[in-house]
Amino acid sequence: MKFDVLKSIAKEAGEIFREGFTQSKSITFKSDIDLVTQYDLQIELFLKERLAVAFPEHTLVGEETSEVITYPDKAIYIDPIDGTTNFIHGIPFCAISIGIWEDARPVAGVVYNPVLDELFYAEAGKGATLNDERIHVTDTDTLKNSLIATGFPYTKVDRGEDLEWVLQTMALVLPETRDVRRLGSAAIDLCYVAKGTFDGYYEINLKPWDVSAGILILLEAGGKVSRVDGQEYTLDERIVVATNGKIQDALVGKMADY
Ligand code: IPD
Ligand code: CA
Ligand code: CA
Repeated sequence: MKFDVLKSIAKEAGEIFREGFTQSKSITFKSDIDLVTQYDLQIELFLKERLAVAFPEHTLVGEETSEVITYPDKAIYIDPIDGTTNFIHGIPFCAISIGIWEDARPVAGVVYNPVLDELFYAEAGKGATLNDERIHVTDTDTLKNSLIATGFPYTKVDRGEDLEWVLQTMALVLPETRDVRRLGSAAIDLCYVAKGTFDGYYEINLKPWDVSAGILILLEAGGKVSRVDGQEYTLDERIVVATNGKIQDALVGKMADY
C-alpha cells in the first residue's frame, strides 16, 4: 500500500500533461533533434515535490533536473514526458514514467499516458495492471508471429556505432518477424509488451528513467527483460531486450548474430 500513492501523484501530474498536449509549446533544444518543452520541466518539478514528501528516504533522479545519473540503494527515476517528440507533434503515445528501485531491484512503477488515460502500475510480486485491471503478456512463441517494437536513439545523428547497431539489428530482426513498430515512447513500448499488444521490444541508448517503471510492469505481467547478450539486465545497461518470455531467446539469438 505504501507505493499506491504513485498512482494519484501520476494522475495529478497528468492534468498538467493533458493541458500541455493541446497547447502551443515553447521548445528548447538539448541537441538538434532532442527537444524539451516547458511542460517537461513543469511536470518534473511537480513530481519531485510530491515524491519527496511521499518517499523522503529515496533519491530522486529526474531527466530534466538531475545533473548526473546515480544508482543509490533507494532511488526513484522520473521521466516527466517519455515521448516528447510525440507530445510536440500531437501523437498520443507519450507518458509520465516513475520507477522506484531499491537495492538494484524494481519495487514499484507507474506509467501514465494522460492523453489516452491509460495508467499502468505494478508492485513487485503483486502483478501488473492497466487502469486497475490485470494485464498479461502474449503466448506467441515464434518470431514469425511476433510484432516487435523498437526505438531510435538521439545519437543516430552522429552516424556512429549506435546508428550502425540500429541498422544492423533491424536487418537481422525485421525479416524474421510479423513486423516492427517505432511508437516513440520506451516506457509505453514496455507496457504494450506487458499488455500483449507487442510480443517484444528492444532498443539501444536507454536511460534509467525511460525503463525503470516499464521493466517492472512487464516482469509482473509475465514477461522477461535481459541485456542483448541474454545476461541479467541492470539499470546502467544501454541496451534492453524485453519480451513475453517465450521469444526472449529467439530475439536475443537473432541480435547476437551482429
Ligand atoms: C525517448 C523515447 C523514445 C526513445 C528514446 C527516448 P524522451 O524519450 O522513449 O521512444 O526511442 O530513446 O530517449 O526523450 O521522449 O523522454
Ligand atoms: Ca524518455
Ligand atoms: Ca523525457
